[in-house]
Amino acid sequence: MAITYDKIPNNIDLASNRKVQKALEAWQPDFKDWWMEMGPEGFQQDEIYLRTAISVDSSGWAHFDYVKMPDYRWGIFLTPPVKNRKIGFGDNAEMDVWEQVPGEYRKELRRMIVTQCDTEPASVEQQRLLGKCAPSLYDMRNLFQVNVEEGRHLWAMVHLLHEYFGKDGRDEADEMLQRRSGNADAPRILEAFNKPVEDWLAFFCFAMFMDRDGKYQLAALAESGFDPLARATKFMLTEEAHHLFVGETGVGRVVARTAQVMAENPDTDPAQLGIVSLDIIQKYINEWYTGSLDLFGGEDSSNAANYFGAGLKGRFQEMNPKRFTEHQAMDECYSLDWMEDGKMVSHEIPMRRAMNLVLRDAYRDDCERAMERWNNSLEKAGLDFRLYLPSQRFNRRIGVYEHQPFNPQGKMLSDKDYKDQYGQWIPTEADLDYVKSLMVQVTEPGHFAGWINPPAKGLNGQDVEFEYVKFVNA
Ligand SMILES: [Fe+2]
Ligand SMILES: [Fe+2]
Repeated sequence: MAITYDKIPNNIDLASNRKVQKALEAWQPDFKDWWMEMGPEGFQQDEIYLRTAISVDSSGWAHFDYVKMPDYRWGIFLTPPVKNRKIGFGDNAEMDVWEQVPGEYRKELRRMIVTQCDTEPASVEQQRLLGKCAPSLYDMRNLFQVNVEEGRHLWAMVHLLHEYFGKDGRDEADEMLQRRSGNADAPRILEAFNKPVEDWLAFFCFAMFMDRDGKYQLAALAESGFDPLARATKFMLTEEAHHLFVGETGVGRVVARTAQVMAENPDTDPAQLGIVSLDIIQKYINEWYTGSLDLFGGEDSSNAANYFGAGLKGRFQEMNPKRFTEHQAMDECYSLDWMEDGKMVSHEIPMRRAMNLVLRDAYRDDCERAMERWNNSLEKAGLDFRLYLPSQRFNRRIGVYEHQPFNPQGKMLSDKDYKDQYGQWIPTEADLDYVKSLMVQVTEPGHFAGWINPPAKGLNGQDVEFEYVKFVNA
């Protein structure tokens, strides 16, 4: 499974599949055009200290060097096939995995791949202006690393469309480069991927919550009976881990900075100190966490049941016996309360129909772990304030709690009270303007903007003071 550095780097012996190779070579210039138009604005000629995949082994695949972003080796990397792999769950359990798209599930697979694929270029578009106000070279480099890898994830999914979905797949691949985040006529597919990410706290929350949703979606697809999808998403997960690190430690460094400055200046308004108040941080968490819950889909979902039943999308770590010993999910139900005829009623969702929720619960536990870490730094600073994850009922735009006036504690309010208090929970224009006012670009190696702490250590064994970005015109 060595990587060949042809025109399109790959470990799938692309050269032996002339048809797909030609189709992807035809798509490549359009991708490059898209990158120059919609990738990070203003830094395409600079030298960025980036990691590139040089093998697909779980250890040691990453190679670090200075690279100009447009020269990044975007390519197609699949984890090696597992011999005699069987479908692990659902009605087709124990059957051989599919090497080609099974005709009866073509529509579902195409939809799943297209929806996942579309988020990859969308996030690059959402984040394209952030380099201009990066709080340090270290952070700027992390942003660009995330961006180039989302570009590679686009490649990973587009390869599946090209190789396995014929003409439809090629059309879908073209459309990936035509839709634009936030464009009224041709928006990205999921709503959350259409709003710009305009400040770095939003970026860290995005990488913490939205990329983490991505991790759970990819992990569920890595269980798929459609083997090329499972192998593609498995390798994407190894790259994704760094994005989650950037998000979690990014928010954590903001929290720690605020805690430290507040502990030193207990009676001063945070806005006078040039830091982000804990209230505003909590509002950002509320907004991005609830937005990420929507990405899991409806709580009671026939699509989710079909995907699981067919063996297309499993649970998080489906084949880990510590998590699941039973792979049919036919007998149990998931109990959930929601409003019916003006009162809260307990509902029993058949487990297969509740698969979005099951995946979301694993995600929520992961987020809770991060909250504990962040709260540790508040405790250490001697502050009483604690950050929290809002209720799954709050601020939802899809599912059984859609557009209902629940507060972050999950209590239903009158419409009026809800509207009046909304600005206490979700960032107001004034909050957003304040955070934006803190965003100044810091380009001195080892220096950091005043609202964020330096990281505990640098990347790849380098110092924090390392020159992670070299500007050509500096
Ligand atoms: Fe991604
Ligand atoms: Fe990501």
